Amino acid sequence: MSSGFSRRNLLVGMGAAAASPAFASPARWLAPHDAKRAAVAATTTADGMILLSRNENPYGPLPSAHEAMRDALVHANRYSFPPDYAALVGCISKLHAVRGTDVVLGAGSTEILRMSADAFTGPGKRLITGHPTFEAMAAYASRLGTEIVPVPLTASYAHDLEAMLRAASGAAGGLIYICNPNNPTGSLTPASELEAFRRSLPSGYVLLVDEAYHHFADGFPGYAAQAPADNVIIARTFSKVYGMAGIRLGYAVATPGRAKELEKWQLEANINAVAAQCSAVAMDDAAGVREAARRIVADREDFMRQAKARGLKVIPSYTNFAMMEAGHPAPQVIEYFGRNKVQIGRPFPPMTTHVRISFGTPAEMKRFWQVWDGMKLAALSFAPAQSLAAAKYRWDGSC
Ligand SMILES: Cc1ncc(COP(=O)(O)O)c(C=O)c1O
Repeated sequence: MSSGFSRRNLLVGMGAAAASPAFASPARWLAPHDAKRAAVAATTTADGMILLSRNENPYGPLPSAHEAMRDALVHANRYSFPPDYAALVGCISKLHAVRGTDVVLGAGSTEILRMSADAFTGPGKRLITGHPTFEAMAAYASRLGTEIVPVPLTASYAHDLEAMLRAASGAAGGLIYICNPNNPTGSLTPASELEAFRRSLPSGYVLLVDEAYHHFADGFPGYAAQAPADNVIIARTFSKVYGMAGIRLGYAVATPGRAKELEKWQLEANINAVAAQCSAVAMDDAAGVREAARRIVADREDFMRQAKARGLKVIPSYTNFAMMEAGHPAPQVIEYFGRNKVQIGRPFPPMTTHVRISFGTPAEMKRFWQVWDGMKLAALSFAPAQSLAAAKYRWDGSC
């Protein structure tokens, strides 16, 4: 993900904020993030928009990482400041019980997805994905002339592994992308099924398991992190539990052979020196990571309680967001929330009346529910669902 790509999405996402006077002066919109202050994250934009749209961590980086970030800034004149890369790779290797040669760093796990598309897809190859799932993989593979085969999720929103296996037959191979837990549904594909699936993968295929939301599912029945194998690559990110989406850091764990194939497509010096240093500190802070996950799981439980009290249908979530039936066309609900200064997730066809809510701080969620409760009146002016159900939606590059 280049910085231009991110900036474009941010501007699109913030809409009116880009034109507001506050946006004109960096000093004004940066003020709440003043580095001299403690690790207090601000998710509300300068014009007061609450951001519940991109599955970020509203609490910001771990305090230990925040401090390391500030310390690392003095090395910003260097491409890297040894042993930063090595220290980070060392932390990742230790966590996953693999060797350094099995780790590939990316500017966000998005770069890992892009490297995988470059390495394992192309003309004559297939990409098999769930539907709906995180669209980046399909977007990258399709640019390369790959045949994209979207396989609908099951009734419990798991990946339909049998159908994915069927879809894999009769092609020269390619890539199978499984997001577990899945974005945007927040749902699990059971560990026991995944194990059998990986053993029966047809030759010529590589399975990429995207575990961006691992920490919010870890320890829950039915979930298990996957291990790398000759035909299995795991992707992880620092954008979620670590609260460092803007730092842009992700990684893959693979066998050395697969890691080399990915690295052919890696940008030189793709990790900035600040990211490398603060992420090693974050990873080493096991207690801090546990606490960050616990807090968001508690927020999730609160969200479910609030939804239940209102009789709403929410897909059980193992992530830091939830997909909920809104009873109205998603684009209208999104627009209504935007007008009320709450930015929720974009549309996720074919789920035309579901909306995806990323969990914010308790104060932000209080506001979210106030706006939700006010929707009854606004909905009187919504267009009939059928008129929007068929609307085409193109992925805007955001999470
Ligand atoms: C499943 C999944 N994978 C990857 C990403 C990209 O994350 P990043 O590039 O910030 O690591 C996201 C973003 O939300 C995601 O939902």
